[in-house]
Amino acid sequence: MPAASAVRVWAAGLDLAWQAWAPELAAVSDRLDLQPGDRVLDAGCGSGLGIRMLARRVAPGGLVVGVDTDPEALGWAAWSLRDLAGQGSSVELWQEDLTALPFPDDAFDAAWCSSVLGYLADPGAALRELVRVVRPGGRIVVISGDAARHTFLPIEPELESCLRDAELRAVRDGVWGADVDIHLGRRLYGLASRSGAARVTPLTLVWERTAPLTSTEHRYLARLLDGLTGPAVAPYLGPDLDVCRSVLDPAERGCVLHRPDLHVVQTATGMLLEVSG
Ligand SMILES: C[S@@+](CC[C@H](N)C(=O)[O-])C[C@H]1O[C@@H](n2cnc3c(N)ncnc32)[C@H](O)[C@@H]1O
Repeated sequence: MPAASAVRVWAAGLDLAWQAWAPELAAVSDRLDLQPGDRVLDAGCGSGLGIRMLARRVAPGGLVVGVDTDPEALGWAAWSLRDLAGQGSSVELWQEDLTALPFPDDAFDAAWCSSVLGYLADPGAALRELVRVVRPGGRIVVISGDAARHTFLPIEPELESCLRDAELRAVRDGVWGADVDIHLGRRLYGLASRSGAARVTPLTLVWERTAPLTSTEHRYLARLLDGLTGPAVAPYLGPDLDVCRSVLDPAERGCVLHRPDLHVVQTATGMLLEVSG
């Protein structure tokens, strides 16, 4: 196992999100219309969770190529995907930049790209590359979230707007990284429309859960709530910090996560790009 604890913690966070969103991600990946034997690109594969999902869908005889710029992410992916050897699909990992892929035109039947474009200086260039390397008639699914796209019901709307405001100001100040566009989801349709794809269909993913939560859902939301009132955002909440914590800190009895009438809605923007056939 790769030793560096930072990559392990990062991969565990992605793993939790993938487990929580598993039904929604499976449903949206259906839109790729993958067949056994297909060649599919996981663009910005990170820790390899997308590769695992795609490999099952193209078996037997398929190929999943994961591309990422981060060698540590690729090291983690290689380690965590080793059980796929001999399971019916081939997996290759390439350290490459999505905006300048080394593959010929039409090299893939499909491409998948989740939670990556917000990290790129030129996400439009990456989308044009995906359209170039997918064959005519092939499909691409791109998913990109947007901060402040979560609603915890039934908390008061005033509290929600104060949280949202704090979160947006924290994002604007770059507390989660100055180079990350955490709102890319709201530009995705425009970017996809200019990518050269023949047709672009929006596919918003809606993650909606009510109490009682599974333990995975609970852990996933507790982590999200920690982020909303944790050290990065707390200074932006000012005098509202205590009241927000009383409702959102999972350690508090009054936390919304413990309510029997909890209803959570989160969304992530997705697009289906069809390459002209
Ligand atoms: C939040 S992770 C998402 C990983 C994976 N797609 C998932 O859904 O779990 C973003 C990934 O994009 C990768 N990335 C960032 N810029 C990239 C680029 N220019 N080309 C390829 N990968 C890139 C990062 O290294 C990171 O692994």
